[in-house]
Amino acid sequence: MKNIAIVLAAGQGTRMKTLIPKQFLNIGNEPMMMKSLRVFDKSDIIDEIVLVTGEDYVDVCRKKIKKSDIHKVKKIVVGGDSRYASVYEGLKVCDNCRYVFIHDSARPYVTKDIIKRAFEAVKKNPAVAVGMPSKDTVKIVDDEGFVAATPIRDKVWTIQTPQTFRYELIREAYDKLMAENNMEGITDDAMVVERAGMGKVMLVEGSYDNIKITTPDDLELDDKSRKDKKDKDKKKDKDKKKDKKKD
Ligand code: CTP
Ligand code: MG
Repeated sequence: MKNIAIVLAAGQGTRMKTLIPKQFLNIGNEPMMMKSLRVFDKSDIIDEIVLVTGEDYVDVCRKKIKKSDIHKVKKIVVGGDSRYASVYEGLKVCDNCRYVFIHDSARPYVTKDIIKRAFEAVKKNPAVAVGMPSKDTVKIVDDEGFVAATPIRDKVWTIQTPQTFRYELIREAYDKLMAENNMEGITDDAMVVERAGMGKVMLVEGSYDNIKITTPDDLELDDKSRKDKKDKDKKKDKDKKKDKKKD
């Protein structure tokens, strides 16, 4: 039985407002989709990767992967009109799968450690999502734009991917809601398990860096933090040289 990662790259990226879908934009020197794939590829936990992408991008992806150091992508399938439809296409082609890790390619800062934490957790509880406690206070808003409620901040988490499941459980939950045409408002996979009434979803820590690139400012921020890091590294190098001179 295998552990399979489904990497989602079939979105349009409408909020990013770029000509090509955001998952194909470069972060550093390669598309964020490739960065996401590589983290799963290099994790010992993952046996195979299923990549889900748009019809027009299957060949481009295949070529890019072939030329790269990524070896675990066994299938590239065409996604659907919504995230959940794309996930479902991925789930349908997973063979002989024990645990499935469903990941947004628009989260290129996922790490091996996050995958490991999700894996350790899913062995104890068959449905797991990674996330982080909210740093901001969160308000529930009514239709008129007034505050309806303020949840206790300690109990509010923002949710990330990978979301990780025993394969049969998530497959059954998706099969059920798809058959009932009951997917309205579904934004993540944990919600599918919740709505299908198929048990509790356990949360484990992802990381505050594991952001989803959604709007142009996420990329600008990213550029800025990289520039800041570069500046810091340059300063470190200079300091080192100075220290050497002293010796
Ligand atoms: N996704 C997908 N298929 C879809 C919609 C989304 O595979 N039909 C993927 C995206 O490629 C992304 C992840 O799901 O990696 C999270 O979705 P989101 O951030 O909403 O991306 P988009 O839907 O592409 O962006 P937008 O909502 O701004 O159009
Ligand atoms: Mg979307």
